[in-house]
Amino acid sequence: MTPPHPAHHCRAERPRRADSDFARDLQAGLSRRPRGISPKYFYDTQGSALFDRICALPEYYPTRTECALLAEHADEIAALAGPRAEIVEFGAGSLHKVRLLLDAMDRPARYLPIDISGEHLTAAAHELRRACPHLEVQPVVADYTQRLLLPACAAGSGRRLGFFPGSTIGNFDPEEAERFLRVAAQVLRGGALLLGADLVKDPALLHAAYNDTAGVTAAFNLNLLARANRELGADFDLSGFTHCAFYNAPHQRVEMHLVSRRRQQVEVCGEAFAFNEGETLHTEHSHKFTIDGLRAMAARAGFRPGPAWTDPERLFSVHWLQAPTG
Ligand SMILES: C[S@@+](CC[C@H](N)C(=O)[O-])C[C@H]1O[C@@H](n2cnc3c(N)ncnc32)[C@H](O)[C@@H]1O
Repeated sequence: MTPPHPAHHCRAERPRRADSDFARDLQAGLSRRPRGISPKYFYDTQGSALFDRICALPEYYPTRTECALLAEHADEIAALAGPRAEIVEFGAGSLHKVRLLLDAMDRPARYLPIDISGEHLTAAAHELRRACPHLEVQPVVADYTQRLLLPACAAGSGRRLGFFPGSTIGNFDPEEAERFLRVAAQVLRGGALLLGADLVKDPALLHAAYNDTAGVTAAFNLNLLARANRELGADFDLSGFTHCAFYNAPHQRVEMHLVSRRRQQVEVCGEAFAFNEGETLHTEHSHKFTIDGLRAMAARAGFRPGPAWTDPERLFSVHWLQAPTG
């Protein structure tokens, strides 16, 4: 596929949002060594669309494996959730996976999908309302790493069921993941969290999943720079950077980087940053888990681990985690 190209603006027309979180975090990330930025900035409208394409790739086993697990265990999950559950999905994307649960569930009271990619979330919520007219869908455009303010539970609703699929938990550092789970345990008090987590496996399978032959993951990674050009008027030359993804075994994580192909200088909101050939910007961690390791982390964060489901090849896992009561 052709990687996206930066929008062509003449200098006078370039949008400049030097005061945005993205500008601040990108400038800070380019200033420190090693250079890095949160993967949450992948997800503007283009990034979310590219992620949907990744999910459909033959090499990308996580989505189809997790969907098969959710479909297979939907009745058991629905029974655990109970009637009139209120579903809160973290990093909900295109809202596809929740559909695998909705049919099995007993009259869910409301669905609150949370995502940082606002336009994409609004469009996906519109589509879900059309497909499920009886379901109350209330999208929340927010960064779930910041203070989470959710509306009070709907009148007559049952338990709150958190849903965090896609192994997005793996994008956090281990300490951040545990911190997130601790907050989730409080937000979901009296309810539970259904969590999808990718498992440690043969590095060759991981390498293929993050280096697809069609180049969609490369385009997704490079979209971060294209987004900086579109939103911040930065001047990244996308042909000057290359996608690099590899398994870091000691840390049990896939790392994605953007590697400078040559010596070059870029400008972000008036600040210049020099890159040497081979210098990288670290764009994503994707930690891989063991079932026991994930359950132990959830327990430290205040959950009581319940059933964990996995596929015969043990590629992926889905966990029922009971939140504290009272
Ligand atoms: C790996 S994708 C998973 C999407 C979907 N849940 C799935 O399983 O296919 C991560 C999703 O989380 C969203 N996201 C990432 N960081 C976020 C943050 N800090 N706050 C809210 N949403 C975030 C992204 O926009 C994206 O939709």
